[in-house]
Amino acid sequence: MAKKISVAVATAVALGAIIGAGIFVLSGTAIALAGSYALIAFAFVGVIAVLIALQLGELGSILPKVKGSAYSFVYEAFGSQLGFITGVLLYFSFATAISVVALGFGAYAASFVGLGSGYAIYFSIALIFVLSVVNIIGIKKAAKLDFGLVVVKISILGLFIAFAVVVAFFSGTHFSFSYFTTPSSETGLTAIFAACVVIFFAYSGFQAISTFTSDIKGGPNKAAMAILYSVLISIVVYVLVVLALLLLVPAIKFTVAADPLAFALNYVHAPNYISTIVDIGAMIATTSATLAMILTASRILYQIGKDKLLPIQVTKFNKKRDVAFNGVLISAVIGVVMLFAGNIYVIAAISNFGLLFSYMLSSFAVIHFRRIKRLGSFRTPLYPYVSVISIIAIMALLIGMPKEALVLGVIIIMSLLVIYYAIIEIDKKHPVKERLFR
Ligand code: ALA
Repeated sequence: MAKKISVAVATAVALGAIIGAGIFVLSGTAIALAGSYALIAFAFVGVIAVLIALQLGELGSILPKVKGSAYSFVYEAFGSQLGFITGVLLYFSFATAISVVALGFGAYAASFVGLGSGYAIYFSIALIFVLSVVNIIGIKKAAKLDFGLVVVKISILGLFIAFAVVVAFFSGTHFSFSYFTTPSSETGLTAIFAACVVIFFAYSGFQAISTFTSDIKGGPNKAAMAILYSVLISIVVYVLVVLALLLLVPAIKFTVAADPLAFALNYVHAPNYISTIVDIGAMIATTSATLAMILTASRILYQIGKDKLLPIQVTKFNKKRDVAFNGVLISAVIGVVMLFAGNIYVIAAISNFGLLFSYMLSSFAVIHFRRIKRLGSFRTPLYPYVSVISIIAIMALLIGMPKEALVLGVIIIMSLLVIYYAIIEIDKKHPVKERLFR
């Protein structure tokens, strides 16, 4: 890649990946689960995301050339066995995230053109197809497109927040503090916990930057800054949007619906043009997040193939366009197939499993590299507390996952272990020695 990407564009690329179905679709689910505690949950998970972002920044500065994000960090730290498991799980997380975000797009697109929710899936498939082509045209063009999309989607969320404030405080009658209740059947902590699992998906995406650290002007330190800025900006935006939702509609009225922002606007009989703008914002946000999910998934698959843990075909790379060609195609196919795997909440939980698993091992990787004195130019402050707290928090989130995702995750890990050893046996190769301990 001839021209490097600035910190601002890199931050925008990360925000392009972060702000998508999580806030436009799953925010309603989080409120349905935890009532107004969803606010605390969004802030809390945001803090965990900051801790993870700092550590990915550090790992990116130790290994600026790798394209596989958390997979590559774990591979470099602990060898091919854990690397293989992490890589495939992380890859499926992103490929599955393509479906979640595309489903969000489909829901808003169908309602935008006045069709029933049954048509959403066709819009989702069309989106994945078009964005795969955009990815194949090249990351630079995709990144440029992303910058504009990010500015527009944040502005539209800003408009939504401003509208909620006006309705709640300046329209005379509407808002009451009784809106901020929690569903009576939920105990506070369990409710927050259930919501956190969903919300984690909303923050996913900042790691997109660690698949192209070496393309960023100013190097790994600037890449780490871009990751951090993107998470901090999304915390502010998310907390304000959830607050806006609660200003418009009492917490108890939210259900696991596909378009909570549209629901809230309908609830207060917002003018049509506001609803239309927010619908467009949702479609733009889910478009840019889907674009980023395809890009990140393709690069992780490419890197796993490069490390010879998957067949060589996955490494087909177009240097001129900086595109992992087959990675894009395979990810798009998986993205389409996973559209049929269940409701958006379950698919998001499945996607979260691999993410959480890979972040937990990334925190261990930070500890590993510090112990062997392989230091990067960017260092996580307050080490080792940040790593230890992340590991504990991620374990708690993993334990709190919906059963479907947990069971599927464990089955995938077992299967990957079997496949790993079967292939080694067939090829009579020896596994790279793990280096969990010195
Ligand atoms: N964080 C991204 C989203 O919410 C994946 O759509």
